[in-house]
Amino acid sequence: MVGIMMLRTWVLLAILSVSSATRCSHRRRVVQAFNVRRNASSETTPLQVGNGNFAFGVDITGLQTFKPFATLSSWGWHNFSLPTTPNQTSVEDFTGLDWWTHGRLVNYDQPNPAEPDISNWLIQNPQRLNLANIGFSFKSGVNVTEADLTETSQELHLWSGKISSRFLFKGSLVEVETWADPEVDVVGISVKSDLLASGVLGLFFDFPYSDTNKFDAPFVGVWNATSDHSTKLDQQSSSRATIRHTLDDTTYFVTASWQGHGTLSGPSDGTHRYLLTVPGTSHLELTAMFTPNLPSTTRSLQDITDASSQWWRSYWQTSSFVDLTGVKSANATELQRRTILSQYLLAVNSASFNSPQESGLVNNGWYGKFHLEMVVWHSLPFARWNQFPLLWRSQPNMYQRFLASSFERAKQQGYKGARWGKMTDPTGRSAPGEINSLLIWQQPHPMYLAETEYRSFPNSTTLNRWDEILTATADFMASFAWYNATTGFYDLGPPMYPVSENTQPNATRNPTFELAYWRFGLDVALRWRTRLGRPVPAEWLAVRDGLAPLPIEDGAYAIYEGVPGMWTYANTTFDHPAMAGVYGLLPPQPPVDLAVVRRTADRIRDTWTLEESYGWDFSMLAMNSLRLGDVDGALNYLLHPVFQFDDAGYAVGGSRVPTPYFPNGASLLTAVAMMAGGWDGEPGSHFPKGWDVKVEGFVPAM
Ligand SMILES: *[C@@H]1O[C@H](CO)[C@@H](O)[C@H](O)[C@H]1NC(C)=O
Ligand SMILES: *[C@@H]1O[C@H](CO)[C@@H](O)[C@H](O)[C@H]1NC(C)=O
Ligand SMILES: *[C@@H]1O[C@H](CO)[C@@H](O)[C@H](O)[C@H]1NC(C)=O
Ligand SMILES: *[C@@H]1O[C@H](CO)[C@@H](O)[C@H](O)[C@H]1NC(C)=O
Ligand SMILES: *[C@@H]1O[C@H](CO)[C@@H](O)[C@H](O)[C@H]1NC(C)=O
Ligand SMILES: *[C@@H]1O[C@H](CO)[C@@H](O)[C@H](O)[C@H]1NC(C)=O
Ligand SMILES: *[C@@H]1O[C@H](CO)[C@@H](O)[C@H](O)[C@H]1NC(C)=O
Ligand SMILES: *[C@@H]1O[C@H](CO)[C@@H](O)[C@H](O)[C@H]1NC(C)=O
Ligand SMILES: *[C@@H]1O[C@H](CO)[C@@H](O)[C@H](O)[C@H]1NC(C)=O
Ligand SMILES: *[C@@H]1O[C@H](CO)[C@@H](O)[C@H](O)[C@H]1NC(C)=O
Repeated sequence: MVGIMMLRTWVLLAILSVSSATRCSHRRRVVQAFNVRRNASSETTPLQVGNGNFAFGVDITGLQTFKPFATLSSWGWHNFSLPTTPNQTSVEDFTGLDWWTHGRLVNYDQPNPAEPDISNWLIQNPQRLNLANIGFSFKSGVNVTEADLTETSQELHLWSGKISSRFLFKGSLVEVETWADPEVDVVGISVKSDLLASGVLGLFFDFPYSDTNKFDAPFVGVWNATSDHSTKLDQQSSSRATIRHTLDDTTYFVTASWQGHGTLSGPSDGTHRYLLTVPGTSHLELTAMFTPNLPSTTRSLQDITDASSQWWRSYWQTSSFVDLTGVKSANATELQRRTILSQYLLAVNSASFNSPQESGLVNNGWYGKFHLEMVVWHSLPFARWNQFPLLWRSQPNMYQRFLASSFERAKQQGYKGARWGKMTDPTGRSAPGEINSLLIWQQPHPMYLAETEYRSFPNSTTLNRWDEILTATADFMASFAWYNATTGFYDLGPPMYPVSENTQPNATRNPTFELAYWRFGLDVALRWRTRLGRPVPAEWLAVRDGLAPLPIEDGAYAIYEGVPGMWTYANTTFDHPAMAGVYGLLPPQPPVDLAVVRRTADRIRDTWTLEESYGWDFSMLAMNSLRLGDVDGALNYLLHPVFQFDDAGYAVGGSRVPTPYFPNGASLLTAVAMMAGGWDGEPGSHFPKGWDVKVEGFVPAM
């Protein structure tokens, strides 16, 4: 700890010794070099402006003209009406399933074949809403498509959070700027074109209905179910109008304000499409604010551009920084590109008051819900890159809000403490599912985050913030571990699903990663008690020190104890290779055996079906390689052909999940932070030999 404090002081002095203006202009050059430039809409990803709780995705026009990319928020959700099937008409009618669990029946939230309708309803509801689409409307008798535009070009300005777009329509120039406010859920739009004044160009606002697609990508919602929802225009003045959108029990508002005298009219017949025209001007300044209640104020375009420019400048200046521009290698440039673009996209998509969904605010996966086992991947970069205020938006208050229902979940199953859910909506309810109800690696995440925060802020504020949550989390962990009188060890499972979700749950006992994570989590909880000067619970200590040994097959760590032919048959060496996480993501701890860790890493490299892996696997393997001293191996993982980021930095989903998949970019940042700052016992940079890299502001990983 003293070492860390000294290192932090040293980093601080090093930073202060460079004039901050010089540093700023240098950082600005590095960041801006990765501004995204497009000349056509992407088929899969928008460019986005946003603030972590709200984002607006645009096509090549700077709006949602030809491609209805989404406007998503943390607060906009919708329920379809409950089923009307007898005995399945309310949430309380869902009873789940009982499974034998160490000699007793435990109730799990799993779809019950006798209650299919309410089971499905609970999985599919609520969904996250695409709040509206805003695009150009061309008054010209023919259907205009993107092919009718010429000289299209577009740039995302990372340093200020602006998207500038230009194109010609019938030879006439249209210039667009798109912004979002860093605090308020409002977009700012500037359009310069003579086509505005002549009435050829206007803007439309359109409102889709929700649907029950598990994955709604690349677009969210349906536009032809117009009779299932309603919109109402409340025109307040010639420069402001509010549209109220009602979908069943959900209502929210879009308030448009503009300069000059305009008219917002509509909806046109059989649609929810409204049209804004502001004749007599060739420069339209428009803001569109999205709110769950009728707003009392609006923001001007100037307010938004000022706030956005300042917020992003400050974000880039206060962030930890890796400068790879001194390295003449395409690999370094690609790593820098992924790093910078991931930093931008995480602030836009993942810095929310609840954990983000895997596809952030781009499109919907799993109905727009978020997964608590992904919390560490999503949140950790904010801590590791010195953006604690973004971490604190959700941590630990999200756990605090979900505490009561998690106590209830544990109690109902006969355990102490709080059992965290999995596929979650804003109420904290976990969707029914066999995997959802039996996954356990989300449980120690609060310990990982708390300990990470404590290493940067080792004071009573941090201890008190996390105390109640760590206690509730550890109580469940200790009570979930089952004392096996035959072996004298505490077992995890069965039934359970390990990280890889690909085993038979009734046969899954003592998976490697979960055992190590249980030990780590209980150890942090015990340390917390000691730091607070309070007695340590005997059960936590007994379980931490009495967990079953990590399972080894053929000299390497196995998915779980007794898995048949772990390293012999190809039927187990696919999906998340979580056993690599015990030395990399997790710090070294007993009983991890370094020789076994090495053999495991070699086996994974040589035999694992990485084509079926998701991106955070590559970051996790890179962290494992780093700790083992194999920097080149780490880089190979981070640049693995399956681990792809598109031209705008969105992580490509690959064969298993849709694009984008944000745990990839987030985990990449965590791995790069480890390269840049090292870890306890080996602080400092760990880049390939000969790379001249400048790093600023990293605390070593644990
Ligand atoms: C559009 O962008 C692509 C990819 O960056 C580039 O290859 C192409 O030349 C550009 N086209 C025009 C017309 O600028
Ligand atoms: C959806 O319904 C559930 C169950 O009644 C409720 O808890 C939740 O608040 C509702 N969400 C929305 C957005 O209406
Ligand atoms: C609904 O529940 C009642 C009372 O438990 C039961 O008598 C009835 O058979 C059930 N109806 C159906 C359709 O399952
Ligand atoms: C696990 O065991 C329960 C009984 O306790 C059974 O209902 C369930 O179908 C089994 N699951 C699998 C995947 O075999
Ligand atoms: C425009 O598109 C609509 C829907 O595809 C079609 O019904 C209509 O005929 C088209 N109009 C023209 C002028 O091409
Ligand atoms: C809406 O469009 C989809 C896809 O084209 C189609 O399957 C569906 O039937 C349409 N729904 C209505 C109400 O027209
Ligand atoms: C702990 O550190 C944080 C961050 O620097 C600070 O805001 C807080 O006031 C500190 N608490 C105490 C008790 O010093
Ligand atoms: C106790 O542990 C052994 C070894 O893991 C296992 O084979 C056995 O099934 C466990 N006992 C029970 C009752 O689960
Ligand atoms: C893998 O294959 C072996 C040999 O055929 C079999 O015994 C084992 O049950 C299989 N494992 C899984 C998880 O399917
Ligand atoms: C770049 O990375 C790839 C894949 O990791 C590797 O094969 C190649 O040798 C690297 N090139 C350089 C110049 O380091």
